[in-house]
Amino acid sequence: MEQSMSNVPGPSGQRRQPSTLGIGPSPGSVQEKYDLKELVGKGHHGEIYRAIRKADGQQFAIKSTTTELDNKVPRYPGLLPNEVAMMTLARRPPSMQLPRLYEWFWDEEETSDGENKKIMLVMEYFDSCQTLEEFLKRNEDLDVWDARTVIRQIVKAGQECLQRNICHYDMHDSNILVVEPFLSIRLVDFGRGKLMIPGKHPRTDTKISSSEAVNVTVSQLFILIKEIAGHCSSIPAEFLAFVDNFYTLDEKEEDGILLPVEEILNHPWLKIKYQ
Ligand SMILES: Nc1ncnc2c1ncn2[C@@H]1O[C@H](COP(=O)(O)OP(=O)(O)OP(=O)(O)O)[C@@H](O)[C@H]1O
Ligand SMILES: [Mg+2]
Repeated sequence: MEQSMSNVPGPSGQRRQPSTLGIGPSPGSVQEKYDLKELVGKGHHGEIYRAIRKADGQQFAIKSTTTELDNKVPRYPGLLPNEVAMMTLARRPPSMQLPRLYEWFWDEEETSDGENKKIMLVMEYFDSCQTLEEFLKRNEDLDVWDARTVIRQIVKAGQECLQRNICHYDMHDSNILVVEPFLSIRLVDFGRGKLMIPGKHPRTDTKISSSEAVNVTVSQLFILIKEIAGHCSSIPAEFLAFVDNFYTLDEKEEDGILLPVEEILNHPWLKIKYQ
């Protein structure tokens, strides 16, 4: 049964909508329940459409994508398409930086041979957003307050993934959305994500050890921060060197494994806020 969405504000996702589903695929087809509107983004595998839920006119983003990898999440007996598994882990506890997955469907027409499985993900829609790449192109000289606001949230997104046992693995300027007017950051595209598991073991397509997950995340954060620093000369070199120093976490290290990312968030320069 549909829950009422009448108290839900606009599509920017500033306030969370209640979940109406479980973990497995929703029955039927996405077209029965949603009107797919214009294409709002396109990547290597996926196409993202703005969509309207027929029952109540609520706006969502629907990603149509192929999936070759499966993964597991706690409390669900079967395998899930990897992107679904990662976004399911991202759901709890809710995070401002990680988009919410509401439900997903098999795309029956495209899933005939079982090899190239096509799925439709129904997610939170971000209006008035641009990718970080577009944002930086439009802002050659970024105000230092804005640069700090953006960097702080990107680091937080990386940390929130790790806290949910996700290594996003694909944190780059097209997978980060900047939502106006407050420059809120959203990390999208969990298709290459890996499940973080403790202990020493080889990296696979879908699993990664904790120490490696932290190293990959920090190195991707560093690349993003350097890219932003290219548009803001007021970011101190000391802060950049500080982030760069966290590249290599010892494989044996398991206790307090997430500390490097937390330490970046606690760096005095990143903690400066408007009075
Ligand atoms: N929830 C959303 N709301 C609004 N726009 C979105 C949303 N999710 C993604 N987009 C837009 O669509 C673009 C592509 O999305 P995404 O990165 O998930 O697809 P992809 O790169 O094709 O994924 P994959 O790498 O799995 O093939 C993003 O760069 C962004 O511009
Ligand atoms: Mg992408």
